[in-house]
Amino acid sequence: MTGESSHGTALITGASRGLGLALARTLAGDGWTLIIDARGEEALESARAELSGQTRVVAIPGDITDSEHRGALADASREAGGVDALVNNASILGPSPQPDLLDYPLDVLEEVYRNNVISPLALIQDLSTELKPQARIINVTSDAAIEPYEGWGGYGSSKAALEQLSNILAAENPGLRVYSVDPGDMRTQMHQEAFPDEDISDRPLPEESVPGFIELLTGDLPSGRYEARALAARVGTTTAES
Ligand SMILES: NC(=O)c1ccc[n+]([C@@H]2O[C@H](COP(=O)([O-])OP(=O)(O)OC[C@H]3O[C@@H](n4cnc5c(N)ncnc54)[C@H](OP(=O)(O)O)[C@@H]3O)[C@@H](O)[C@H]2O)c1
Repeated sequence: MTGESSHGTALITGASRGLGLALARTLAGDGWTLIIDARGEEALESARAELSGQTRVVAIPGDITDSEHRGALADASREAGGVDALVNNASILGPSPQPDLLDYPLDVLEEVYRNNVISPLALIQDLSTELKPQARIINVTSDAAIEPYEGWGGYGSSKAALEQLSNILAAENPGLRVYSVDPGDMRTQMHQEAFPDEDISDRPLPEESVPGFIELLTGDLPSGRYEARALAARVGTTTAES
């Protein structure tokens, strides 16, 4: 899967728009087989129709918090002969505007954790026998996991939990590469939900974060936390110098 041939199989959750779709487009262009999902059937079907012009795509509508849906993703992974990469990209912000922690409804916080922490781990568990040797797991995180931004306590603490879960998974499974990747601010639906009254047209498109993900999926970097755009810039500089 590394080197000149990057034709592997990747499962990307939440690939109907935003970062997930941008990454899926690049991997499709590089000949990867894709397994993708999202809850909204129409947008997912439109992504599938576009991507299938370039590569083999299995699109399964559903919610990552639903164990039956995760089972269908695991079945598709088995039928594809296993996966080289699992990208836990699907995630929710929670309420918009985001409540302060003292006012955060706990049932909603549980829902945010179910989407952003429990389900990514559940999917890793469900796919554990379908991960090929040296498979990459990318858990998409955020700077809100490490910066104490006011109002970001629900989403931010869920991403912090996802990061520590990634660290420990990596320690427990030295044969796997487990990455937490912060894509940076991106002009997407989630970002607009986070800043409902702002013009976000100055934020970079998700395509600008994709090269960092590709470097992790095709390179040989150790498990750990990475910032996608900084990684892409670093690799670009090294390539230009060599
Ligand atoms: N945008 C930013 O500025 C930013 C910054 C830092 C980190 N991130 C992270 O980057 C990742 C991608 O974010 P984005 O901005 O591209 O978000 P987005 O535009 O809201 O896209 C999210 C994707 O995930 C799907 N999804 C959400 N919940 C799902 C669920 N329970 N089951 C299945 N699919 C689900 C959505 O489709 P449906 O709604 O139809 O299910 C959609 O395809 C997330 O992990 C986010 O936390 C984003």
